[in-house]
Amino acid sequence: MYSLVNKRILLGVTGGIAAYKSAILTRLLRRAGAEVRVVMTTNAREFITPLTMQTLSGRPVHTDLVDAGAESAMGHIELARWADLIIVAPASANFIARFANGFAEDLLSALCLAAGGPVLLAPAMNRQMWRNAAVRENVRRLAAGGIGILGPAAGDQACGETGPGRMLAPEALLAAIAESFETKLLSGSRLLVTAGPTREAIDPVRFISNRSSGRMGAAVARAAVEAGADVAVIAGPVSLSLPGGVKLTRVTSALEMRAAVMRHIAGVDIFISAAAVADYRLQSVPEQKIKRQNARLELRLIKNPDILAEVAALKDAPFTVGFAAETEALKVNAMAKLGRKKLDMIAANRVGEGPAGEGLGFESAHNALTVLWQEGREELAEAPKEKLARHLIHLIAERYRAKNGAARH
Ligand code: PMT
Repeated sequence: MYSLVNKRILLGVTGGIAAYKSAILTRLLRRAGAEVRVVMTTNAREFITPLTMQTLSGRPVHTDLVDAGAESAMGHIELARWADLIIVAPASANFIARFANGFAEDLLSALCLAAGGPVLLAPAMNRQMWRNAAVRENVRRLAAGGIGILGPAAGDQACGETGPGRMLAPEALLAAIAESFETKLLSGSRLLVTAGPTREAIDPVRFISNRSSGRMGAAVARAAVEAGADVAVIAGPVSLSLPGGVKLTRVTSALEMRAAVMRHIAGVDIFISAAAVADYRLQSVPEQKIKRQNARLELRLIKNPDILAEVAALKDAPFTVGFAAETEALKVNAMAKLGRKKLDMIAANRVGEGPAGEGLGFESAHNALTVLWQEGREELAEAPKEKLARHLIHLIAERYRAKNGAARH
């Protein structure tokens, strides 16, 4: 488990029968070497006394937004700055609602809003309350904003009912706190990922596109978030399942995708181009729907810009990773793209072919990749896209570090 020695943990306690468990959590945190400061709401003090928490934490307990006491006089901004991590355990439905809606009339809500570091909540409430649509919406909103939601567990409740709503055990909360300090592979890195197809208009109601579902790009984004990166996605017109905290920009055409990429590229460390960008677009799109008049219809297409090559050619180019969708001569074609587009890495997939006859690459939940860079390559055998994406992110992080390390000498 990650060491908590000298970590500064701010423990917020709100009103609920599970408040007694926060006393145990305080003791576990202190034993693990952490400094603990406790903030209690008015309702929390109905369940457990500040004296208990003060004795266990070894510090005066903070209760009021305007605190006149000499020793504990630390404003909510200072407290928020002091903390390496804030955990609210138990987090009542009332507190969750206040936090999700930006209310700051009590000390704990105010300092959660002012927090610059991680904030974790351990909800505890009656099972029906936990299932209530308003609570669900508040929790969803907080999670989407990057707040960690720990639990709740299911089981017997103090009210005599059984179901989800029990606060996680103090030992499980301790492990989650420790885990959130783990340095991850891509911590501190900014990633930009493109995903899905582009659509090139033929007329106001028709378009040229391809079968990309965006699944591979979404899996890459998810794996990068798991690895601790700050991730933004630019996606064509498909619906994607992305983790909370990922900034999503929607586009339709290749030109829109290029403009969005160029708007977001400054400060990006790693660019991954998983989108199936249309290579051609109509030279000019008629304003009215094309009529079914002639026996033949000719469309004049012109080349779209190569977004990936443009990014790789930027003065402060990020570590640039392309995908190659090939139906033949996979490695030769992918290697040629790696060189021609001046990429750091390319992930080649043979599309439209699976050993059991099912499709691979486009649309499918599975893929198989040959990952190539100048000095090496790795074969990633057929697997679900999520699994491949994790492996790919691992390779990217390794090569990215090797390149940056080399650049510094
Ligand atoms: O979306 P899914 O259904 O999950 O399918 C995944 C996928 C098969 C689409 C994905 O794995 C993939 O291979 N994406 C790239 C598809 C592609 O356009 O390959 P390409 O060989 O034509 O292009 C090479 C690279 O240049 C790609 O990184 C592409 O994003 C980029 N490119 C291409 C053309 C263009 N005008 N601009 C680009 O940036």
